[in-house]
Amino acid sequence: MASAGSDTRLQRITIINVKGGCGKTTVATNLASAYAKLDLNTTLLDYDPQGSSMYWLKSRPSDAAQLHGIAAYPVRNSTVTRSFQLRLPQETERAIIDTPAGLTGLGLIDQLRDTDTILIPVLPSSIDIHATADFIRDLFLIAKIRPQRTRVCIICNRIKPNTLSFRGLERFLRALDIPVIAQLRETQNYVTSSEKGLGVHELNSRSSQQDIDAWQQVVNWLENREPTVLN
Ligand SMILES: Nc1ncnc2c1ncn2[C@@H]1O[C@H](COP(=O)(O)OP(=O)(O)OP(=O)(O)O)[C@@H](O)[C@H]1O
Ligand SMILES: [Mg+2]
Repeated sequence: MASAGSDTRLQRITIINVKGGCGKTTVATNLASAYAKLDLNTTLLDYDPQGSSMYWLKSRPSDAAQLHGIAAYPVRNSTVTRSFQLRLPQETERAIIDTPAGLTGLGLIDQLRDTDTILIPVLPSSIDIHATADFIRDLFLIAKIRPQRTRVCIICNRIKPNTLSFRGLERFLRALDIPVIAQLRETQNYVTSSEKGLGVHELNSRSSQQDIDAWQQVVNWLENREPTVLN
């Protein structure tokens, strides 16, 4: 059963940025496990041929909240049709879509077709800020995303407050008209949880309370409702 206040209609949430290594898979796996934990029927789709999200899912313990996985990248020599490969289980309430770095042009347009929400992780470095600025321009000019139809939001990842690079990121974000829904701190908890096939909010560790709070904030914004308790 879904937690109180959740809309159980299918929502597609795509995690995307042209930049590699900014935390797309980290955000996708943490978000998918957060939804599964809230008893929403969740499917994690991995469009990246590196298959990191699927690798994470295979490591997931059997007693953790279960979610469905789809390896959505083209499989060589597969006899299964692409549309069958991509078919969501009918009962899916949240589809979390992990994407490869470097999508531009038609690839970008294709990837974003039918998505309800676009979630962009960004790192506090000048190279990442520069690439993300170009990517956001492409979202609106090339993929023709219309904010009335598709929500666009940002998650700042690997934050180290009071650093010059963080201040640079803050300046960049202030200039955009896109909501920043959470700041994820840089912590080994992400590495530890990912190796176990868990979300950072599923670690039974006192050191992860700050990370749990950040994920509650993400879910609350996406669900557009009052605070939800994940743990
Ligand atoms: N907040 C964080 N704190 C510490 N380590 C992090 C954090 N976020 C991500 N990482 C680590 O950074 C690395 C890159 O993250 P991730 O794989 O999520 O990026 P990505 O955008 O999916 O990369 P790619 O473009 O290769 O698909 C991973 O090893 C991940 O564990
Ligand atoms: Mg990835």
